[in-house]
Amino acid sequence: MKLLQRLMPGLLVITLLQVNAQYHPPKVMQAIKMGSFIDALMKKMTLEEKIGQLNLPGSGDIVTGQAGNSDIAKKIEQGKVGGLFNIKSLAKIKEVQKLAVEKSRLKIPLIFGMDVIHGYETVFPIPLGLSCTWDMNLIERSARIAATEASADGINWTFSPMVDIARDPRWGRIAEGSGEDTYLGSQIAVAMVKGYQGTDLTKNNTIMACVKHYALYGAAEGGRDYNTTDMSHQRMYNEYFPPYKAAVDAGAGSVMASFNEIDGVPATANKWLLTDVLRKQWGFKGFVVTDYTGINEMIDHGIGDLQTVSARALMAGIDMDMVGEGLLTTTQKSLKEGKVTLAQIDAACRRIVEAKYKLGLFDDPYKYCDDNRTKTEIFTDANRTEARSIAAQSFVLLKNQNNVLPLKKSGTIALIGPLADNKENMPGTWSVAANFSKATSVLTGLKEVVGDKAKILYAKGSNLDADAKFEERAGMFGKGFSRDNRPAADIIAEAVNIANQADVIVAALGESAEMSGESSSRSSIEIPESQKDLLKALLKTGKPVVLVLFAGRPMALKWENENVPAILNVWFGGSEAGYAVADVLFGDINPSGKLSTTFPQNVGQVPIFYNHKNTGRPLAEGKWFSKFRSNYLDVSNDPVYPFGYGLSYTSFSYSDIKLSNTSLKGNQALTASVTVTNTGNKDGKEVIQLYIRDVVGSITRPVKELKGFQKTALKAGESKTISFNITPNDLKFYNYDLKYDWEPGEFVIMIGGNSRDVKSGKVNWVK
Ligand code: BGC
Repeated sequence: MKLLQRLMPGLLVITLLQVNAQYHPPKVMQAIKMGSFIDALMKKMTLEEKIGQLNLPGSGDIVTGQAGNSDIAKKIEQGKVGGLFNIKSLAKIKEVQKLAVEKSRLKIPLIFGMDVIHGYETVFPIPLGLSCTWDMNLIERSARIAATEASADGINWTFSPMVDIARDPRWGRIAEGSGEDTYLGSQIAVAMVKGYQGTDLTKNNTIMACVKHYALYGAAEGGRDYNTTDMSHQRMYNEYFPPYKAAVDAGAGSVMASFNEIDGVPATANKWLLTDVLRKQWGFKGFVVTDYTGINEMIDHGIGDLQTVSARALMAGIDMDMVGEGLLTTTQKSLKEGKVTLAQIDAACRRIVEAKYKLGLFDDPYKYCDDNRTKTEIFTDANRTEARSIAAQSFVLLKNQNNVLPLKKSGTIALIGPLADNKENMPGTWSVAANFSKATSVLTGLKEVVGDKAKILYAKGSNLDADAKFEERAGMFGKGFSRDNRPAADIIAEAVNIANQADVIVAALGESAEMSGESSSRSSIEIPESQKDLLKALLKTGKPVVLVLFAGRPMALKWENENVPAILNVWFGGSEAGYAVADVLFGDINPSGKLSTTFPQNVGQVPIFYNHKNTGRPLAEGKWFSKFRSNYLDVSNDPVYPFGYGLSYTSFSYSDIKLSNTSLKGNQALTASVTVTNTGNKDGKEVIQLYIRDVVGSITRPVKELKGFQKTALKAGESKTISFNITPNDLKFYNYDLKYDWEPGEFVIMIGGNSRDVKSGKVNWVK
């Protein structure tokens, strides 16, 4: 209470007197206490200081030991900064916090944000990879560890989870989210918020979550980053909004507005989105921050000059302005000219100070600044062990002809490819806090895991791409990668020579880390041609080839699926990726990941997703093409790998579906079950998925929607009956008038190991 008392000496007495009159549950007590504290604080604030709280600059020119001399220092002392982001250094954070709580007039502490997206120094798989674990405990655990490490280094706010539904693999930021499905994405959003925030945000090892990018950022036209989005409100409410709402319902403390426009108005100035939906319909009580220069970019969107767009953002419901300082520099003028109201400035300021209060910063502004924790809680052996195990569970085995995998820990293995000996690329995009030199490459992982039992040979085999300019744009240079300027044929020949000495070839190919993530859209989603040439040459040796595929997006693998015996998709597995790849290749861990996105045959099929509508001219099941049906002349409608798909080193069989009832009424519950048997000779884990189709609706309904899943371990030969409890709640959707309810009629209930191969039954459900 030190700082709190210094700021408001009479506060405790007043609040106790105020609340003594009647009993209030602890949560209400807390809210009353916070309310009185903030009322009292805001009474002391000048207009300038209130606007100052809305300002979120980047860490700029702050140098350890010299923070007081930075450009930002002056602004902090004048009360013109509410928080800072992406500073990695406890010493720096302490220095700037000291400026805020000792040199500014009202001594209001700063919050410190960072893009802690999939781990801090201990890096977990990219979120798209994490989502393929379909394991909510494990995902929550990864966020918990990330929060513990970040908070041990002074950070108390993370710009995560990113919950944008994405169905276009051209969009590089598909790597940062949980894929194409609304239900799975919503579950993951909740797990992440819980992991970051824990049950008590005032603890020094929990941090505030920021749900982003609100909203629809993943639907950028043509998959081109920052591009326009435009969709029906039905699709927003039924398919794109639920993960944001789930994160809000789980108590996320903040939300980040997206760069894109919605209904012709950029999200950052969209009052319907930020106030009507978020606050009025969903009851969000936290604060909304813009994305990086999101306000300024509205000048380019073409809706006004800096003052106009800043005023529109504030009046729409933005509370904090990341980097651009539009609010800082124009709000006083806008107030004088009647373009914004004092009430709106007060509301925004209140939400920012409330967030600081909720984090306990008024109690102790240095509570996240514990040198001892920095030394003992970051990149620990225990955290790395968990990261290794989580990474292995994010991998998806796409093909395993003749059980090429797992490999034996004996003989000679040729590890070939531009991603084989590249630890810097393992953490993947948005690894802001990673120490890349401490990550583990596949080459190191393989060598350490086999020890002297097998011989590992290595050759790079090709450049990432034939075009050096592309490699530069794909962020390869400076990330442990140098260009080999010899003719491609010579580089391949060297690799083939090595491969010929081995019993089996492991080809580590695909994308570099920065080929996905922000501003990394691609118009081709295939493995770059130079690497395909290498792969073809390796196949020609006649030795078994295992493709270890690095990818930040679903890729078009039609040719690979037809020609390569084994394919293990490893995404970007984080700091321990190299070990995890070895664990799975050698069968120490049996792969259990399932895709959270559809893998198309080619980019022309995009967008392709499992829960599409039927159309009025659907193609009959099993058909490749029919005239006057909804299909293409040159490619079938099938994906290469469907949503939910993933193999194991064992196999599973599914019994027919059993339904407790086929004719139901009102709130009656339905139990749907299958018996799943591990028919192979290895223990394994299977994700059993429940899908429902609402056959007739007042609006058209998807051909199937994921409504539940269970990940279960099955010993070799073991059978388990897996049951799902279905209630009318699972049948609800937003109708034409955006009313959320279910409609009576026929439903198809499906259970299976992926979205294509399901056992199904029908029920009739009346109101
Ligand atoms: C990204 C956000 C990120 C922010 C801060 C922006 O460019 O879109 O996802 O949180 O930068 O680094």
